[in-house]
Amino acid sequence: MQRRVNFAVVLVVCGVLVSVVACQKKEAASLEQGKPAAAVPHKKNAWVNYPKQVAKLSPQAELGRQLFFDTNLSASGKMSCATCHQPDHAYAPANDLAVQLGGEKMDQAGTRSVPSLRYLSYTPLFTRHFYFPTSEGLEDEGPTGGFTHDGAVASLHEQASVPLLSANEMANASAQNVAQKVQASAYAKQFQQVFGEQVFSDPNQVVHQVGLALEAFQLEDVSFHPYTSKFDAVISGNATFSEPELRGYRVFKDPSKGNCAKCHVDNVGAGGKPAQFTDFEFEAIGVPRNPTIAANKVASYFDLGLCGPYRHDLSKETNFCGMFKTPTLRNVATRKVFFHNGFFHNLDDVMHFYVERDSQPQKWYSSKNGKVQMYDDLPKQWRSNVDHINAPFDRKKEAAPALTEAEIKDLIEFLNTLTDGYSRTPGGE
Ligand code: HEC
Ligand code: HEC
Repeated sequence: MQRRVNFAVVLVVCGVLVSVVACQKKEAASLEQGKPAAAVPHKKNAWVNYPKQVAKLSPQAELGRQLFFDTNLSASGKMSCATCHQPDHAYAPANDLAVQLGGEKMDQAGTRSVPSLRYLSYTPLFTRHFYFPTSEGLEDEGPTGGFTHDGAVASLHEQASVPLLSANEMANASAQNVAQKVQASAYAKQFQQVFGEQVFSDPNQVVHQVGLALEAFQLEDVSFHPYTSKFDAVISGNATFSEPELRGYRVFKDPSKGNCAKCHVDNVGAGGKPAQFTDFEFEAIGVPRNPTIAANKVASYFDLGLCGPYRHDLSKETNFCGMFKTPTLRNVATRKVFFHNGFFHNLDDVMHFYVERDSQPQKWYSSKNGKVQMYDDLPKQWRSNVDHINAPFDRKKEAAPALTEAEIKDLIEFLNTLTDGYSRTPGGE
């Protein structure tokens, strides 16, 4: 996909970057002179518009909270949404399995890694063509938006029925099954109060309303969008990066180095929208096949993202095969597995893969008859879809990696500043 650069916003952020550097220089100078640093007045920048914190959940969201943690809603009686999306792990799993086990006996393996449920509320609707205005007219950025790794699900409320009814997740046999469980729950009365006395007469309606309640919980509860990372505090003028963090941020933004910001956008958006660290676009970056995923034991099975097997509308557009949605990097340092197939288990390996993919493929890909199988999680005919255009993926086989060891270290220091819990309030102290 072509990717746009928004000059106006980049300039604003560079302005902040410059002032952060200047700020740090000032502080260092006063420390050098042996004087205590003067108390810097906290000028919380009003230009970042953090979402209002809801003091009390609406009745619908409160119902959603109870549904989210209710293990009775699964066939096993052991699994709720929170089993895979744990609140104290940024709503991702606590274990380091590439994919989770579910089903009636909790022994059925999934096929994709579990994303965090934080920072999803700005996810745009999926569109086949995202047009972006440039000086030469509208530029087609390609598919953008939607929920899950392949953008197949249109809304948070539609998403809920997927795990409720998937045989390898909460494994209810039918909508009726779900409706009976809600009707037998401790919150059945509340459900009727919110959705009407007659709600239990139509099981499909119950599943739909369960989705709406879960959506309301995810949109209202501040734990899904706390914005309490050090990055937010720095951008709001309430903290300063350490030297390694600042160096890492430069690598993150440098188009010829990490180039991370091109896809994991760090700009404050229109109307002061806080940086989301994703552009919601899709890319094939050639993540290696994960042999620990049971489905991958079948050599002919491939998870091709946009072009199938879970979504069917784009299966003929084979130039999309292998493309997955760019995830947010907020809280990425808390993740135990990375990418759609959970192949990687730490950021150091992810970063080395990013910069050595084409120069040292033997480190990452399987071999057949002594020959390395580049991009081995894609059938041969679609391997040309893998991104070779955007840095850091643009290096030829013989070229030096886009990042040095020291730069990778700094970059990871910066990624650590995206973890929530640094401050008490959004962008605060
Ligand atoms: C067995 C583990 C498991 C359970 C239980 C589970 N999920 Fe998920 N969730 C996943 C996986 C795996 C994905 C990614 C699916 C994909 O890409 O196809 C996902 C994706 C999502 C997404 C989309 C995230 C994004 O980045 O677009 C939402 C929203 C979500 N789940 C909400 C829920 C809710 C609400 C429940 C409870 C009704 C739930 N999940 C139960 C494993 C689980
Ligand atoms: C051309 C777009 C692009 C660029 C440039 C890019 N990424 Fe990504 N990134 C993606 C996509 C797409 C995925 C998901 C791929 C998948 O799951 O197969 C991803 C996934 C990741 C993940 C895994 C996150 C998770 O939750 O599993 C990390 C970490 C990451 N990127 C960090 C970076 C860093 C750091 C840089 C800069 C060195 C960078 N990316 C540059 C597109 C990009």
